[in-house]
Amino acid sequence: MVTWTLTEKKLNANQLWKNESLYSLGNGYIGVRGNFEEGYEHDMPSVRGTYMNAFHDVVDIPYGEKLYGFPTTQQTLLPIIDCQTVQIYLGDEMERFSLFTGEIMHYERTLHLDRGCITRKVHWKSPLGKEIIVSFHRLVSMITKECFVIHVELEPVNFLGNVKIFSSASISRQGASTVDTSDPRVSAHVSKLHTEEIVHQDDMHLIIAKTTQSNLKTACAVRHEINTVYYKEITTLEDELISTFQFTLSKPVTVTKKCIYTDTLRHGDTFVDTAIQLQHDIMEFNIEALQQQQHIYFDHFWSMADIKIKGDSKLQQGIRFNIYHLLQSIGRDPYSHIAAKGLSGIGYEGHYFWDTEIYMFPFFLMTHPQMAESIIRYRYHTLEQAKERAKEMGHGQGALYPWRTISGTECSSFFPAGTAQYHISADIAYSVIQYYLASYNQSFMVQYGAEILFETARLWMDVGHYYNGKFRIDGVTGPDEYTCIVNNNYYTNVMAKYNLMWAAKVYDQLLSSHGEALKTLCEKLHVEEKEVQQWRDVADNMYLPYNEQLGINPQDDTFLNKAIWDFESTSKEKYPLLLHYHPLTLYRYQVCKQADTVLAHFLVEDESDTETMKRTFDYYETITTHDSSLSYSIFSIMAAKLREPDKAYDYFMETARLDIDDLHHNTKDGLHLANMGGTWMSIVYGFAGLRLKESGISLAPLLPRKWQGFEFYFQYKDRKIQIEVTKTEMVLTLMEGDALPILVYDEQYVLQCHNPTTINTQT
Ligand code: BGC
Repeated sequence: MVTWTLTEKKLNANQLWKNESLYSLGNGYIGVRGNFEEGYEHDMPSVRGTYMNAFHDVVDIPYGEKLYGFPTTQQTLLPIIDCQTVQIYLGDEMERFSLFTGEIMHYERTLHLDRGCITRKVHWKSPLGKEIIVSFHRLVSMITKECFVIHVELEPVNFLGNVKIFSSASISRQGASTVDTSDPRVSAHVSKLHTEEIVHQDDMHLIIAKTTQSNLKTACAVRHEINTVYYKEITTLEDELISTFQFTLSKPVTVTKKCIYTDTLRHGDTFVDTAIQLQHDIMEFNIEALQQQQHIYFDHFWSMADIKIKGDSKLQQGIRFNIYHLLQSIGRDPYSHIAAKGLSGIGYEGHYFWDTEIYMFPFFLMTHPQMAESIIRYRYHTLEQAKERAKEMGHGQGALYPWRTISGTECSSFFPAGTAQYHISADIAYSVIQYYLASYNQSFMVQYGAEILFETARLWMDVGHYYNGKFRIDGVTGPDEYTCIVNNNYYTNVMAKYNLMWAAKVYDQLLSSHGEALKTLCEKLHVEEKEVQQWRDVADNMYLPYNEQLGINPQDDTFLNKAIWDFESTSKEKYPLLLHYHPLTLYRYQVCKQADTVLAHFLVEDESDTETMKRTFDYYETITTHDSSLSYSIFSIMAAKLREPDKAYDYFMETARLDIDDLHHNTKDGLHLANMGGTWMSIVYGFAGLRLKESGISLAPLLPRKWQGFEFYFQYKDRKIQIEVTKTEMVLTLMEGDALPILVYDEQYVLQCHNPTTINTQT
């Protein structure tokens, strides 16, 4: 059971905000940090927050020197109305229930990964000796995305008497008790919601609030259900609504606080009516019923998403925890995506990066492909803005996706490691291609995918140029943010090549299968056969840097000419380097923040031979700091590919519990969602060696010595497949769908439904 839960049994005031991220709940639409309902004592380190995916304000970006094309405004995720506060006062003395006064006789908080909820039970003795057991049960519904519920149960132990409960819906109680302004990874902007109206309707109370500049509005409708006779009062402050309940505690009493959130982005002008309607709709469901719905949803989710590791329960817990948070973070409408921190905190201001496509998308694609579709739809929805941005950046054609954004426009003010990361356009194209390879859903391609592929392909045609017969791309930044604005970044070039090649292939394939629809699309975009031929030519002639002497792919044209960073004299405290050195210092050395060429070798492995990949891996390994959490998983995958199980395992171990064990010391700002996707990839693409190509699916399992075995599931072209790897064999079971040819260690097998295929594994 321990592997399906995360439990804390002791309180540590210094760990509060880290745990608020770990114990956050979400459903891709709303996210609630794990703040205590009863609050904390003054000045305790905490970030109180409830967020709604994509619900943002617009703020000005101040510059000392603003040059052409720098974004002037940016979006920032805004905490919405917070309903977490439920304060309990006991007796005529009005002793406030708090974990930081009196005595805790028992404390236990558990995140239930299999049920999608949090329970917290406290046996508390007040300073004056009143004993009571308080149990909290909270969930953010996966069925009604607008719904967040807190259920509180009070059980008398030695205390019987008057109880007063203050339950609020508040704009003002949000935010951090302290903010580290020196860390660029934390939110840089502060904005606030403003109350527009407070409405009371029978026993339902509504706050309607709006942003300062983005003109978005949100409503929160709150209702309480209490199973005893009580007296109620409502206090309306400027930006807070407090419901006060008084009752006599003589037997267990339950208070269920049901909160419904809506917004104009998702619910349009009827957002208030929708909130009221939904509040009515959930009236008939008590906490048990809501929990039951949630349980059914999670059973279905885990039936494809789970990975079982035999022989390591801590690791097993870490993997499930990461997968769980991936689900909690994914937006499922055209306005929202997956933020770098999910909905667990305000780090990186709720922005969406390439993290989603390269690190998180594969998990959804292979386990719950409908969710992967919504990731693509979001990028489709913001395609016009990407085309506008390309124009603004001086390109005659194509789509340049923003490095970081919420609503689709560039939010990065530091262009060397922001806008210059043009690879994001190829990364998005890559996810579309992966989707195509896994689903072969041509209708979806003609409707959404092809347009993204064509417009991103066009970007490369405009950014690059021919020189000495080869197509080159100058003045861009690859994934490694310690090396900026370079010519011919290997990663960018190889990904652009893939983008161009597949734009042409998809064109050809749709021409024969969906000719009419393709014709309409091409007319709209003015794509002609001649242009498609140019994409093919450029893909064939893309320059991919190779150093003869070292036998490796250099990161870019000049990378290997630079001095190597003096790692020996760099003390441990100087990491991450970005917090201690000016970017220019870092740019002058061979030092990598994260996987760059090594990542390219994983994503587009057929462009290099294994020997080159091995030498390249060895080279970059010595100069990579992994200061970004996006790095370890890629080194793990490549080590597995290069058949180095111990190394693959060691890198993998840095990913699986990165947040639970706070390895980067900043989990308080939110969880590292890309790393969480990286954990899944390290197992499936790393240890199982799964690859998704035009030729089909292939596997090359490699079991870490410390494991007894592992097991996972994936979907591929309407089939469901289960894979079990043990020390000696691998069993592949086609659970659903037509017979499937599959390559294992380069040998062809054909899986038949419900007829397991057993293969001896190599070590
Ligand atoms: C990494 C980027 C990443 C961003 C958001 C940075 O530290 O270098 O690659 O996109 O974090 O996770």
